[in-house]
Amino acid sequence: MTNSENLKPTVLVIFGGSGDLNQRKLTPAFYNLYLDKQMPEKFAIIGLGRTSFTDAKFRTMLKEGVDKFSRRGKVKKEEWDKFSPTISYLKSDVFEEKDYQSLVKEIKKIEEEWGEDPNVIFYLAVAPGLIEPVTKNLGKTGLCKNPSCSRIVVEKPFGHDLESAKKLNDLLTSIFTEEQIYRIDHYLGKEAVQNMLVFRFANVMFEPIWNRKYIEHVQITVSETVGVGDRGGYYDKSGALKDMIQNHVLQLLCFVAMEPPVSFNADEIRSRKVDVLRALRKYDLKEVFENTARGQYREGWMKGEEVEGYRQKEKVDPKSNTETFAAVKFHLDNWRWQNVPFYVRSGKRMPEKMSVITIQFRPVPHRVFPTGVAESLQPNRIIISINPATGIRIRFQAKQIGLNMRLGPEDMVFNYSDAYDTQQPEAYETLLHDVMSGDATLFMRSDEVEAAWAVVMPIIKAWKDSPAEFPNYAANSWGPESAERLIAADGFHWITQPIKDGEK
Ligand code: BG6
Repeated sequence: MTNSENLKPTVLVIFGGSGDLNQRKLTPAFYNLYLDKQMPEKFAIIGLGRTSFTDAKFRTMLKEGVDKFSRRGKVKKEEWDKFSPTISYLKSDVFEEKDYQSLVKEIKKIEEEWGEDPNVIFYLAVAPGLIEPVTKNLGKTGLCKNPSCSRIVVEKPFGHDLESAKKLNDLLTSIFTEEQIYRIDHYLGKEAVQNMLVFRFANVMFEPIWNRKYIEHVQITVSETVGVGDRGGYYDKSGALKDMIQNHVLQLLCFVAMEPPVSFNADEIRSRKVDVLRALRKYDLKEVFENTARGQYREGWMKGEEVEGYRQKEKVDPKSNTETFAAVKFHLDNWRWQNVPFYVRSGKRMPEKMSVITIQFRPVPHRVFPTGVAESLQPNRIIISINPATGIRIRFQAKQIGLNMRLGPEDMVFNYSDAYDTQQPEAYETLLHDVMSGDATLFMRSDEVEAAWAVVMPIIKAWKDSPAEFPNYAANSWGPESAERLIAADGFHWITQPIKDGEK
């Protein structure tokens, strides 16, 4: 979230350089930042991996990724020809100390060429099991000693439970200082998520009503149409709760529920989020089953195409107890949110892809208008839409045109793509730019990650100890019936009114 003018010369070292994440997200993001003149004046990208690549082959592989995944579409040859020489490749094995020496040499060479000390950013786009050898070996090189000019970026999953997250934090902080560590949750790079801070804390009219007195309940839906694709091996050990709720969904919840920060400072904002995570009630076994629902999709039809069930997927246990859908009713034990339920759900193979937060207000305290002027007086809602389109919908009652007094719900919509001509940056563009500028506001601090794990641990344990009757929802449905019952028991229903593309 800082400007680029003062970005120091930077060497970006990508472990897992030949992998999927670099091709789909990282290089397209660097390339777009470059086109938007948001990269440092001097930068070099070094990809590391076990596969043999010449620099030229590596660049071609990355170009294919940019062509396919960049928000700008296919590259223009003359632009790519200027950008691509900044990329090089080093074949290396994360377990081999000598390969780290080659990296040191390479960085030294760049330093000499530039005639100045660059910032060095190590991006760990590797399988979770490789974080340890990479970090330890990096520690031995001495490259990470200067906290002001070296940083490490760690992708999710950050551990697979509280204990492993703590171990990972211990390992990282034994070599890097907390200020050097950037734990990525790509949801925080999304424009709509950052806008929540502005919406809540740069306007005077929402904050006075943002509490238990006016808000009846909050909902968060993060649904996907895709299944687990070719990630069956990873996903079967994870599931919706660990893959989505522990991180992305809890982060969204934090932005809704946090107290106003004193300043727009990374630690201040992160501390306010930690307060929320600490206030989330930790359930006992009975409460877990009262406040959660889980599902696993079976085969079905999506857009006229037959899709297989989760258990039929390659690398998935045919008797798997892993949930592909999770819903939780959270309670926040603090002054502002006492007795305001937060219902969250996330699942794969749902009818629509959407990420949407609904703030539902209480009904008016007194009915002024006679019965009959409105079919039902719908309560006010603020809907924060992250996907498919980014923006905010505010629902209120209005008089309908005509001689009689008739009321009906109307929406005021702020749609980013309608309001601005410029394309939104991808989440990774924002986050990578922040890493280069040294701004950790949108990254998870160690205590934050641990506090988020602490919230879901009782659920993980209870679900593990008590296998479910899976599969229990069809592909192309909104999840199991138990998720409907969870919210219906309180007299509510799931609301799915994100802003659609092109909506004004
Ligand atoms: C990732 C999860 O973190 O987020 C995936 O591991 C999921 O399972 C993805 O598909 C969703 O991200 P987005 O930005 O498409 O909503």
